[in-house]
Amino acid sequence: MYLVTGATGGLGKRIVRRLRSRDLPVRAFVRLNSRFAELENRGAEVFIGDLKQERDIQKACQGVRYIISAHGSNDAGGAATLDYRANIDLIDAAKVANVEHFVFVSVLGSDRGYEDAPVFKAKFAVEKYLQASGLPYTILRPSGFASNLLPLAERFRQTGMYLLIGDPQNRSSIVSTDDLAQIAVDSVQVQAARNKIFSVGGPDILKREDIPHIFARVFNREPWILNPPLLAFDGLRGALNWVNRDLSSSLGTLRALLANEFFCTPEEIAALESTFNLKLETLESFLRRYLSV
Ligand SMILES: NC(=O)c1ccc[n+]([C@@H]2O[C@H](COP(=O)([O-])OP(=O)(O)OC[C@H]3O[C@@H](n4cnc5c(N)ncnc54)[C@H](OP(=O)(O)O)[C@@H]3O)[C@@H](O)[C@H]2O)c1
Repeated sequence: MYLVTGATGGLGKRIVRRLRSRDLPVRAFVRLNSRFAELENRGAEVFIGDLKQERDIQKACQGVRYIISAHGSNDAGGAATLDYRANIDLIDAAKVANVEHFVFVSVLGSDRGYEDAPVFKAKFAVEKYLQASGLPYTILRPSGFASNLLPLAERFRQTGMYLLIGDPQNRSSIVSTDDLAQIAVDSVQVQAARNKIFSVGGPDILKREDIPHIFARVFNREPWILNPPLLAFDGLRGALNWVNRDLSSSLGTLRALLANEFFCTPEEIAALESTFNLKLETLESFLRRYLSV
């Protein structure tokens, strides 16, 4: 049995689809208010719980052989409770349940010591805890997901507009979320992925300004790029600090993402393709598949 957390998320649902397409037994950890009908229809066992409750985590881990931790926080304060605590509780419960392999979805740059980015700090602390746990593991450090760009692409289709905050020259290796799902699933079986950390990105190193131009090619439409400087973001965040300190602090993670480069080297991409025996998909190919253009 595979336990997948974050099973309704952009990555988690693709992991469940892939496991079910191979007819493998999956327990999908979901919240009561989430949209989980698709997972049930695909034959996943749905476990309703809250990752903020240790008892739910312990229960969900019973009888499980493999765990893929693919949840994330999208609320202020979620770095401490979800990105950190829930993963520590999952690792502890995995040990009790004699889990055979633990796949942890971290983030590219988790090891760079960004002081003001709570999610990065939480992920790195979890990586360390997992490595010291004695559980067989694979840690995946992905760059930005291609699926995150789908709503922006839809808006571009309607308006031609693209909002690019910060330096347009900053580089990233946007990864196909489907490729990442396949890598997460295969991590359990591929011997060379055991007790390893992988940077996971797409095949191309893109400048952030390349993205609206890819949209332009896909939709055959001239881009209209709005490019406020990072200072504008900092100003807004500073003002928010007076109103909502928690939210302002959690925006530190977004700032780290906007201010820095997140790309994989050609060597890292080659290692990934050979270890997992796959050809990574470009952002343009991913967008054309999903947007049917
Ligand atoms: N997106 C990126 O570009 C990116 C890049 C690098 C790394 N990552 C990492 O990759 C992982 C997956 O990201 P994603 O974009 O697929 O995430 P996502 O779409 O935001 O999904 C988050 C998932 O976590 C679940 N969740 C949140 N709070 C929960 C709780 N209290 N109890 C149970 N489930 C809860 C959500 O359930 P609901 O449906 O109920 O909200 C959802 O299924 C995360 O660890 C993220 O940090 C993401």
